[in-house]
Formats: sequence, structure tokens, C-alpha cells
Amino acid sequence: MQSKKTVLITGATDGIGRALAKIYRARGERLVMVGRRTLSALNDPLYTKDTYCRADLSQNDCTNRVCEFLNAQKIDAIDLAIQNAGTGYFGSIAEQSAESIRDILAVNLMAPLRLTHALIPYLRKTNGKLVLIGSITHAFPCPDYAVYAASKEALNTLGRNLKIEGDINVQIIHPGATRTGLHRKIGMDSEKTKEFPSAEKVAQKITQAIDGRRFIATIGWRNAWARFLGRYCEGIVNAMVRTT
Ligand SMILES: NC(=O)c1ccc[n+]([C@@H]2O[C@H](COP(=O)([O-])OP(=O)(O)OC[C@H]3O[C@@H](n4cnc5c(N)ncnc54)[C@H](OP(=O)(O)O)[C@@H]3O)[C@@H](O)[C@H]2O)c1
Repeated sequence: MQSKKTVLITGATDGIGRALAKIYRARGERLVMVGRRTLSALNDPLYTKDTYCRADLSQNDCTNRVCEFLNAQKIDAIDLAIQNAGTGYFGSIAEQSAESIRDILAVNLMAPLRLTHALIPYLRKTNGKLVLIGSITHAFPCPDYAVYAASKEALNTLGRNLKIEGDINVQIIHPGATRTGLHRKIGMDSEKTKEFPSAEKVAQKITQAIDGRRFIATIGWRNAWARFLGRYCEGIVNAMVRTT
């Protein structure tokens, strides 16, 4: 019988992260779910004091909190660490507060950097995998999401360099628009999200990508095309975005 794997997921209290947690729980893996909400507010048997680590990833002490939790649970090795937590802001930078900019960079970039650094020894013990959940927005201009897109581009750069440094096995996964609470939380009209695929569907595809060997995986062929065009046909894409 295969032994249980230890799977750490950040941002596991909602959307794609929660859907991923459910998939890995169904596979019988040992979960470490990181989120900012209190355990009592979650009110779901998925989250227990042994599986849920409360850490606000916008705060400097987030890595310590995660490591203290791992220590308390006597976990010294991790097979899969999915850095999924994310936040954003909808609107122009001119309208955005300095605090919001700081928060997005803290959660989307600084926390994955800090956690990657702290988790390397845990991942090395199992020859495990670090997964960075990016976004196709990193590849093309995204007016009204500029800071979010910039944070995802930086995350992509982090992953590419980690891969070349070669200390751990790393994978970058770029989902496209997904129907989650993210849009409502960042102030976007969530009516527009009705046509997006569900978090469960996207999480299923993410787990398939994780089981696969691609270093950079984009979820869905349309998104793969959009990412390709954004990367390699910059002039055309910029002009198209300007006129829409
Ligand atoms: N939805 C999309 O269209 C889309 C497209 C491409 C990429 N993505 C990426 O997919 C990932 C998951 O997003 P999602 O759509 O599932 O959004 P979501 O439903 O809002 O889930 C985001 C998760 O991150 C957590 N989080 C946010 N700020 C945090 C903080 N300061 N400390 C700890 N946890 C925090 C949230 O906690 P709370 O439950 O407390 O809010 C939640 O668990 C993100 O990296 C996002 O950028 C999403």
C-alpha cells in the first residue's frame, strides 16, 4: 500500500484552494491547509486543529506560523506544497490605496517567496514538488488588475529561476478566469463570472497538471492560446486591449 503523502495548500479556505483540498482528501493524503480565517468560522469537518493552520499571509510572521504548525504536528517532510492563496484589486492604480498594493504584493509574492524559502528543507526530504499558482494575467496587459498581474508575473519569474537553480522540483500553473469568490472580494461585478468554469473543474485540471510533468502548465486550451499571444504577439495584444 502506498503511504500517505503530505500536501500543504495555502488559501485553502475558499475557491480553487478548497476544491484542491477536497480532491487530495478524497485521495487519502494528509492535508495541511493554510488560511487566515478562524477554525470556528470555517465550520466544516474538512478543517480540524490537526489539518488547519491559521496564518495571515499578508503578515511578516506568516512563515513562522506555518513552521510552528508543522513542528507541532511533527511534520518534517512535505510531498507537495501548493502556493495557491491570492488576492487582488479591481480598478486603476491611481484609485488604489497604498495598503491594497502592499497587501497584494505581500500575499501573492512575498508570502510565496518566504514560504518557498522555509519549505525547501521539507520538500527536499521527499524529493517533493512546489507548485506556484499563477494566472494567465501575467502574460498580457490587464488594465484594472495591474498590481495583481505584476505580482503573478513576478511569481512566474520566481518559478523559472527556482527551476534553473535546481534545489527543488517546481511547477508553475496558470489558471484562467474561474468562478470563485475572488472577483467579489476584489470589487469586481461577480455577474460577469457566471460563465467562468467552476473552482471544482479548474482544481481537477490543476491536479492533473500536478500529476503530469510539464514545468509550466496553463489550464484550458483557450487560456494557453491567450497566454501564448500575450507573450509573443505583444504589439497586437496591446492594441486589442486598448480598443476594448
Ligand atoms: N478566480 C480566478 O479567475 C483566477 C484566475 C487565475 C488565477 N487565479 C488564482 O488562483 C488562486 C486561488 O484564487 P481563487 O480564485 O480560488 O480565489 P478565492 O476563492 O478568493 O480564494 C483565495 C484563497 O486565498 C486566501 N487568502 C487571501 N488572502 C489571504 C491572506 N492574507 N492570508 C491567508 N489566506 C489568504 C483566501 O482566504 P479567504 O477565504 O479568507 O478569502 C482564500 O482561501 C489565486 O492565486 C488566484 O490568483 C484565480
